[in-house]
Amino acid sequence: LSACGGGGSTKTGADEKSGSGSTGEKITLKVGHTLADTSHYQEGMKKFQELIKEKSNGTIELEVFPNGSLGGERDMIEGLNVGSVDMVLTSTGPMSGFAPEVTVVDLPFLFENEDHAHKVLDGEIGNDLRKKVEETMSVKTLAWWENGFRNVTTGKQAVEKPEDLKGIKIRTMENDIHMDSFSAMGAQPTPMSFTELFTALQQGVIDAEENPVPVIMTSRFYEVQDHLTMTRHFYNPSLVLMSPSKFDSLTPEQQKALEEAAVEAGNYERQVVQDMEKQYLGELKEKGMKIIENPDLGPFKEAVKPVYEKYESVFGKELIESIRNTK
Ligand code: PAF
Repeated sequence: LSACGGGGSTKTGADEKSGSGSTGEKITLKVGHTLADTSHYQEGMKKFQELIKEKSNGTIELEVFPNGSLGGERDMIEGLNVGSVDMVLTSTGPMSGFAPEVTVVDLPFLFENEDHAHKVLDGEIGNDLRKKVEETMSVKTLAWWENGFRNVTTGKQAVEKPEDLKGIKIRTMENDIHMDSFSAMGAQPTPMSFTELFTALQQGVIDAEENPVPVIMTSRFYEVQDHLTMTRHFYNPSLVLMSPSKFDSLTPEQQKALEEAAVEAGNYERQVVQDMEKQYLGELKEKGMKIIENPDLGPFKEAVKPVYEKYESVFGKELIESIRNTK
């Protein structure tokens, strides 16, 4: 992309790229995610498809592959740089192995609610984190989306307090903070790709898992788990990641369209998460799950204090405080 097309000295990097061979021809981008075709991720993707078609005058189409059909999140992230996928919707969960800085957002009980999380991610802190992801992982970030607040589900044992997690084998994402948090609560964290989770629960390899309500419903975990406790212990944001060489091959107009459409679709998807959470809590009850909707979170927060002690020196106390104090 070093050659640049003619013209003025005031051209931006993006303009230069358009002069290096981008034609604005019709292009189909391959997009992967791990969730079901009834999930919030897929609803967001449908909106993204609609918006990008409109904003790019039909020159960009998204071909969406749900259900982990292109692999787990870690595999797909790796796939961005080898060209097996153009775009991936992934939560920050598996990023501790790629860009550990971004996992500051994975600290337990860090965000009060969705609004708080959105203010942080859509502001300066979120932009800085995106920059770090781009630099460390050599990917383009298009927008923050959302997986949601995660909650514990278990087989036989209902979880009312951290002691109830003692000795329970719980699947966590492949994320150091998630694992440390569950160890601090007394559980036995077992990191595993989402694509293996349902079978592992079904076969009793693990006793428990944790995910947002829309995931628990659309991935049918109610078939293999009896209890749900609304611990809301981690807020789990997602990022739309793109192959930088694919992004650079687009015209500046197409790039702008893609960035705008990703943000707008993300705002829509965030609302879908909240709507699904409300609707699916009732449906999960009807399906027989026993739900503790308002557990006393005090003892859980107390139990994870050592996690903050450990990670304060990694992320800096100041950053953690400024996330907490964002209003
Ligand atoms: O549990 C996970 O691995 C994540 O919540 C998921 C479902 C892959 C969404 O990013």
